[in-house]
Amino acid sequence: MVSSEPLFKRVAVIGLGLIGGSLACAIRRNGLAGTVVGADQRIEELQLGKELGVIDQAASNVSEAVQGADLVVLAVPVRATRAVLEQIRPVLEPDAILTDVGSTKSSFVTDVEAVFGSLSPRVIPGHPIAGSEKSGIRAANPELFANHKVILTPPDNVSQPHLARLKELWEGCGATVLTMSVAYHDEVLAATSHLPHLIAFSLVDTLAGEDENMDIFRYAAGGFRDFTRIAASDPVMWHDIFLSNRDAVLRVIDHFTHDLEQLRTAIANQDSATLLRVFSRAKAAREHFSKMLSGQAYVTNNSEKQVTFRLQPGGAITGDIRAPGDKSMSHRSIMLGALAEGITEVKGFLEGEDSLATLQAFRDMGVTIEGPEDGFVRIHGVGMHGLQAPRGPLYLGNSGTAMRLFAGLLAAQPFDSELTGDASLSGRPMGRVAEPLRAMGAVIDTAEGGRPPLKIRGGQKLSGIHYEMPVASAQVKSCLLLAGLYAEGSTSVTEPAPTRDHTERMLAGFGYHVHRDGATASVSGGGKLTATNIDVPADISSSAFFLVAASIAPGSDLILRHVGMNPTRVGVINILNQMGASIEVLDEREIGGEPVADLRVRSAELQGIDIPEDQVPLAIDEFPVLFIAAACANGRTVLRGAEELRVKESDRIQVMADGLAALGVETTVTPDGIIIDGGQTIGGGTVNSHGDHRIAMSFAVASLRAVGEITVTDCANVATSFPGFVELAQGTGINISAEGAE
Ligand code: S3P
Repeated sequence: MVSSEPLFKRVAVIGLGLIGGSLACAIRRNGLAGTVVGADQRIEELQLGKELGVIDQAASNVSEAVQGADLVVLAVPVRATRAVLEQIRPVLEPDAILTDVGSTKSSFVTDVEAVFGSLSPRVIPGHPIAGSEKSGIRAANPELFANHKVILTPPDNVSQPHLARLKELWEGCGATVLTMSVAYHDEVLAATSHLPHLIAFSLVDTLAGEDENMDIFRYAAGGFRDFTRIAASDPVMWHDIFLSNRDAVLRVIDHFTHDLEQLRTAIANQDSATLLRVFSRAKAAREHFSKMLSGQAYVTNNSEKQVTFRLQPGGAITGDIRAPGDKSMSHRSIMLGALAEGITEVKGFLEGEDSLATLQAFRDMGVTIEGPEDGFVRIHGVGMHGLQAPRGPLYLGNSGTAMRLFAGLLAAQPFDSELTGDASLSGRPMGRVAEPLRAMGAVIDTAEGGRPPLKIRGGQKLSGIHYEMPVASAQVKSCLLLAGLYAEGSTSVTEPAPTRDHTERMLAGFGYHVHRDGATASVSGGGKLTATNIDVPADISSSAFFLVAASIAPGSDLILRHVGMNPTRVGVINILNQMGASIEVLDEREIGGEPVADLRVRSAELQGIDIPEDQVPLAIDEFPVLFIAAACANGRTVLRGAEELRVKESDRIQVMADGLAALGVETTVTPDGIIIDGGQTIGGGTVNSHGDHRIAMSFAVASLRAVGEITVTDCANVATSFPGFVELAQGTGINISAEGAE
């Protein structure tokens, strides 16, 4: 192999401790520099560095190391930085990059400015978030940075080519590089690294000072050992870090001391609600911390996970299954349970990312929520006026329902709030809720075109309005009814066509009167909610994938249990029945104010139909999979009046048409619908689901009638509404496997 030029000719690493040594080693191992030269005033460390093969050359002093280097890395204790910079200054090559690896960045910048007079575009402070309680060159490990993050805090005028090279160096050592401002870095590190070290040092020191310390340490079990591991870190290094990041550390210590004092008071007062609230919020945060953004959100941007479905063609659907809980009801159970007086217990809660985002957002507003565990959640309601200001933006992931319903609730709270979401949600229209809420007196800012984030100003007095909805949207209706709970007078909403009425039913279940007059629902503000128990049925929208699967796959016979049969949701069954499906409704019953039934579905010859427009809002989420049914039917299916599909998690008309086309099925897209001629061969191919959960699952169903392998990309968001879809689908006979799933 022809060896190419290394990224740097000569890298000088000043300070051969754990980080400096590991970086030198990683650079050598990965061939990122012609020569790695080390300098350290501790002669033995330097010699050891050479002997262990950590460096190519040992320089007798800093100037010798820096001369001719195109990258200089300072890896000395933070407080030694200035003195080393003085030695570097006269010999630093004009085009060299100067960086460091220290835990505090403003002190490095201050030192550079003091020594050099200004921050040149080639000074790029850095901080690898990697390390260990071990120190010294003997602990040097070329793998130390693999799969770790490195933060660079470049100045505004940074030289972009130099920044790109430094990034490439860290990436070459296996790290992921993030950039942020110096101030933000120091705040974040004070909280996530410096405070925990301080607490560990302090706790061990406190216990070591107790008379029975020997016994304490002898009996100290795993918890103590885990928690205090970092108290064995290098004292000089940490001394330097605390002194140089003083202000940010003091802020976070004050915050922590305040919260610790609160826990002390709670224990003293036997205040179990506070203890449970804090512990369950912390447990949830710990379990999901890798997914969390700045301690606030439950989910991160799903695009970070890449999940691909692979489907082998054919199969028949059999079995007896229950789909996960209804998403719409799961969101609402948390919202109303949180605002109720008393404890609400929920069974069958959907543990999908969307409803979990709602759950986490209420925890962030001070509500104690136990669970979820196997679909069981216990919510300690705080009453209509008991929510607390969240510490940061509420991140709602992929969930349009959460964002729109929260908008109504938060518009009426005494505190400000901000609602954010992932890329898909950030492109969805929120003007449809912001405008009527403004008419009620809310103060809401949106990004351009009425898109998220929503910035909601608290402390506004809302007044009831009458609103004629221009689109048939249960989310808009629900948003306004929730705002109406807090508004002066009556808030009424008229819908152009019936939409799901879970909000109205559940409000009634919590003892809040909702008046219904034809197409108009209204509430009067100022009432209260009383806790109740909720049994969430299986989501008909998730069940729909299996209704279609069993209908189109020859030889199928499937039972779906405990399916929510709310009349405002059964459009999919009405449409499939009209197409000639064989769906038996068994054991119809009412549970907690919602109709529920078991369904038996067997394969049938489906016929294309003109889908009645009045069914569109009643089957709004089921069209992607209904398009698959249409592709497998005899004759033509025509959908009209469904432009709403274009503003769902994706443009579901276009994305479905593109996916079908990728499999060789031609359709005609219209502004408000689609025309599908059934009976075309469904070939193999690759379909991009565009991160839309329902598109991904629909093409999994299509495989049952395909003649070749189907690959569906960008499927991580299936977890938003249907956790366990792949396993359930496999169990019924879909030949599916998922790659890249967590
Ligand atoms: C939902 C309403 C529907 C639906 C969404 C859930 C709800 O949206 O598409 O998945 O829970 O209220 P629109 O009301 O905007 O059509």
